[in-house]
Amino acid sequence: MKIKSAFFCQNCGYESAKWTGKCPSCNQWNTFVEEKIQKDVPLRNQSWQQEKENGRNNIVNLSEVSAVEEERLLTPDVELNRVLGGGIVPGSLVLVGGEPGIGKSTLFLQNALHLKNITTLYVSGEESASQVKMRADRLQATNDQFYLLTETNTQTIFQEIKKLRPQLVVIDSIQTLQSPFIESAPGSVSQIRETAAEMQRFAKESHVPVFLIGHITKDGSIAGPKILEHMVDTVLQFEGDQHYAYRILRTIKNRFGSTAELGIYEMTGTGLRQVTNPSEILISQREDLLSGVAIASTMEGMRPMLIEVQALVTQSVYGTPQRTVTGFDLRRLQLLLAVLEKRGGFHFGVKDVFLNIAGGIRAEDPAIDLAVLCALLSSYEDIAIANKICFAGEVGLSGEIRAVNRIEQRIAEAEKLGFDKIFVSRYNKKGADFSKFNIEVIPVGRVDEVYSRLF
Ligand code: TYD
Ligand code: MG
Repeated sequence: MKIKSAFFCQNCGYESAKWTGKCPSCNQWNTFVEEKIQKDVPLRNQSWQQEKENGRNNIVNLSEVSAVEEERLLTPDVELNRVLGGGIVPGSLVLVGGEPGIGKSTLFLQNALHLKNITTLYVSGEESASQVKMRADRLQATNDQFYLLTETNTQTIFQEIKKLRPQLVVIDSIQTLQSPFIESAPGSVSQIRETAAEMQRFAKESHVPVFLIGHITKDGSIAGPKILEHMVDTVLQFEGDQHYAYRILRTIKNRFGSTAELGIYEMTGTGLRQVTNPSEILISQREDLLSGVAIASTMEGMRPMLIEVQALVTQSVYGTPQRTVTGFDLRRLQLLLAVLEKRGGFHFGVKDVFLNIAGGIRAEDPAIDLAVLCALLSSYEDIAIANKICFAGEVGLSGEIRAVNRIEQRIAEAEKLGFDKIFVSRYNKKGADFSKFNIEVIPVGRVDEVYSRLF
């Protein structure tokens, strides 16, 4: 076998024959690393006439293809089924990314153990058999159809697969796999690309679904999972703050369903628990009213969810005021503060501002703006917002409260959880029928209007 080497961008996987300082594809600096790869087999130089002579007909008329959807494998985990678009599709290749320690191994070990009557092969390149066993004991689950293989060589794995004939394969993790056809070390761009391609071929030919677990680092993009995103059918991301118990499983890409889906879990002493009613856990159960707290009615994917926003506004001690956020975009906070300063005449410029989304959730829905704004005002004035009030609206640069999508679902969720009032954008009134709700819907148009109605 002839060995050749190439340089790979560790950020995006771009391949180059020479070392380059700046990646021409993703514009990152100093990301090229030399990796030894197998010499490419030269493509057979066939003319189109020869191709025709060998007689194989790969072209099919689309009208002759039957579109029977293969039956999906439903797991006992409704959250997982949901993010996959309704269960596991046969022959699909699913990449599950997440930071180390977030609970990826736990999630898939637990699911595999709960899948009765399905032969599962769990390939662990990271933990020993006894470590996996200890974890399974902790999860208090047993399954005599569950098989474990501690191996990293892909060809050995395929040999074992031929013997066992599993109906589901989990690879933990793609960064540990090694293909004997490639020289470079496990975890390198060329290895990850090759081993994932081998797994993809296996999944497509055998119709066995394969889950690839992959680590990603804090900034969310690093060698490995990122370069695989276009190869796999589905990309899931498991996220959450390690200091909180809640975990979110998000669909990033899905050839077989919507990407707006979301699953929520709670990490407990005995594994992950599915959270079917997220709003109840995201709102702290408080008796007395505190200033700086506001509840937002948000949509995470297709699910309505009530989230608590906490703000603390204090007199600045240092020259430059501090702005600190958890679970919210810092630039968005700065924008909202500027709106309050300019359109409302509030002097946040001399204040330190801290903002926190409760429960370690990262909020991306723009409809949370109004609750953030009210939490800020509440802390600024040190006046608590009355109980049982929530908010759903985006805030525009000129201080207008803008309409948000799925307003009726948001209102319905607030009503379901016993809220008395919800503030929404005046512009949401068009086409929506608020009279069917028992909860009082308060349409507002501008920031100052919100202020005068609240305080
Ligand atoms: P793990 O699945 O190993 O994370 P990953 O595979 O993403 O690296 O999860 C590790 C964390 O989960 C670890 O800090 C311990 C915690 N944990 C629990 O809290 N309860 C449990 O039942 C289990 C199995 C793990
Ligand atoms: Mg793990």
